[in-house]
Amino acid sequence: MKNPCPHIVIRDLVISPPLFLAPMAGLTHLALRRVIKETGGVGLLSTEMLASRRLPGENPAISSFLVRTELEKPLSYQMAVAQPDDVDPAMAALQRLGADVVDLNLGCPAPALRQQGAGAALMETPATVRAIVARARKSTDLPLTAKIRLGATLDEVKLRDFCLLLEGEGIDLLTVHARLRGESFSRPPRWDWVGRVKSWLSIPVVANGGIQTAADAARCLAISGADGLMIGRAAAEMPWVFATLATALYGAPPVAEPDLPAVYRRFADLLEAHFQPERRLGRLKEFTHYFQKNYAFGHHLAMTVQSSSSWHEARERAEGFFAKHTSKAVGADR
Ligand SMILES: Cc1cc2nc3c(=O)[nH]c(=O)nc-3n(C[C@H](O)[C@H](O)[C@H](O)COP(=O)(O)O)c2cc1C
Repeated sequence: MKNPCPHIVIRDLVISPPLFLAPMAGLTHLALRRVIKETGGVGLLSTEMLASRRLPGENPAISSFLVRTELEKPLSYQMAVAQPDDVDPAMAALQRLGADVVDLNLGCPAPALRQQGAGAALMETPATVRAIVARARKSTDLPLTAKIRLGATLDEVKLRDFCLLLEGEGIDLLTVHARLRGESFSRPPRWDWVGRVKSWLSIPVVANGGIQTAADAARCLAISGADGLMIGRAAAEMPWVFATLATALYGAPPVAEPDLPAVYRRFADLLEAHFQPERRLGRLKEFTHYFQKNYAFGHHLAMTVQSSSSWHEARERAEGFFAKHTSKAVGADR
């Protein structure tokens, strides 16, 4: 038996085990969250990034960004916000939607977001961030978290001041994607810098970036001393990764070897059950881009689904692939 399962408590919320799903645009919608939750091991789920200006006007019954089921709990809603005046209406909408946590996106380097002054651009405007966090803190008692990258360059003083500002304004937990703003996902993450952030703060710090396997997770925890781990792309590749990590790190009961076609079918069935017809195919293609990595010849699956022009064609072609390829899951314990 490994150490008893640790947990993180923020406000009234217990996050156990301390394994977090990363917000990912186009991926962390109802279907992926359900597949992950049904396999187990995840402590906190996340939506994809939501634009604060659009939130108050969205209809949660039909918006593919907001549609959810009760099983997806606890669920963090990630908000991209550029202006303090947008905070109150967006927070009110998130309370109505039943958010368990509100996360502020302060790290996304996407140019569209930066042009609006949101995401990673906010690290350059600390006065705006201070106003945004203060407004958010005032408007809710929900756990309030933030997600950052390390900055535009490695600047320890600037990063420390920024993190202390967030803690000082009432952020309950900070996730650090251990890369600089301009660094690609293929670059090795700087987990030691998460350790520096941890040493400056008294709130929980979660490490993110480059965790695929149980060995990666253990190494990241050892290097960073982080309170928890956030997993992004590996969760789309292997939705069972949280269960695998919970077993390896925290002694949770072992999980069965994943049945790959069954996982894929479940994901597609959930898209079919909960999304408007025109919203399904793009999401299946996006997921397939990651999921295909479980197969030695997965690029065939990716190509055949990518070139499908209808939902039924994509599903039939995927079944054709599964009938021919019986590769075992590569697995997160490799
Ligand atoms: C397709 C994709 C979409 C993403 N969308 C978001 C997002 O909406 N908000 C955010 O904070 N980060 C976003 N990210 C970054 C992830 O949350 C995470 O920080 C990054 O993928 C590194 O973690 P990983 O190595 O475990 O994938 C996205 C990443 C990917 C690959």
